[in-house]
Amino acid sequence: MSADINILYYHMNIAVFASGTGTTLQTLIDKQAQYDYCVALVVTNRECTALKRAANYDIPHLQSKDWEEIDKVLIENKIQLIVLAGFLAIIPAWICQKWEKRIINIHPSLLPKFGGKGMYGIRVQEAVLAAGETEAGCTVHYVSAEVDGGNIIAQASVCVEPQDNAESLSLRVQQAEKALLPKVVGELVKD
Ligand code: GRF
Repeated sequence: MSADINILYYHMNIAVFASGTGTTLQTLIDKQAQYDYCVALVVTNRECTALKRAANYDIPHLQSKDWEEIDKVLIENKIQLIVLAGFLAIIPAWICQKWEKRIINIHPSLLPKFGGKGMYGIRVQEAVLAAGETEAGCTVHYVSAEVDGGNIIAQASVCVEPQDNAESLSLRVQQAEKALLPKVVGELVKD
């Protein structure tokens, strides 16, 4: 005998913005069932591997630098949360305002340390090593008009080992990022 059970699944539609290889996007795709969100749109500001990943999974994708167009496509795809994952462009203030508390970023440092304009990619871990830090890490934060300046949601730290160079430290931080970001998105889904 079978019973008809109506299960209401609630998936939060997220848009992932990326500019490069999209390894963070890949992790967000891989963990969407586990954390109950749906990667419903990928936006890039240039031709990049992230765009190909989206196409491979039949995820709607847009390559654009026109923020009016991007905003329109976000609404058409019923996006509830924007996740910046290696997106190398400044978000206009009006988008930050319109999407306030619905746009988050992952940054590869323990903000407020090593953030701000020009602090991206390998430069961040080079600065961490140059400053003699014993701890590095990553931060998920809300996006505001100030680069890397929005309220912090969560952080994960890793040890800086004596033999580290910027590349080895960067790899360890990226692993921490890939564990933290989907989890944070999952928490925001539950809110
Ligand atoms: C991550 O290290 C993240 O901290 C930064 O960009 C990197 C993402 O690269 N914002 P990828 O394109 O996801 O591989």
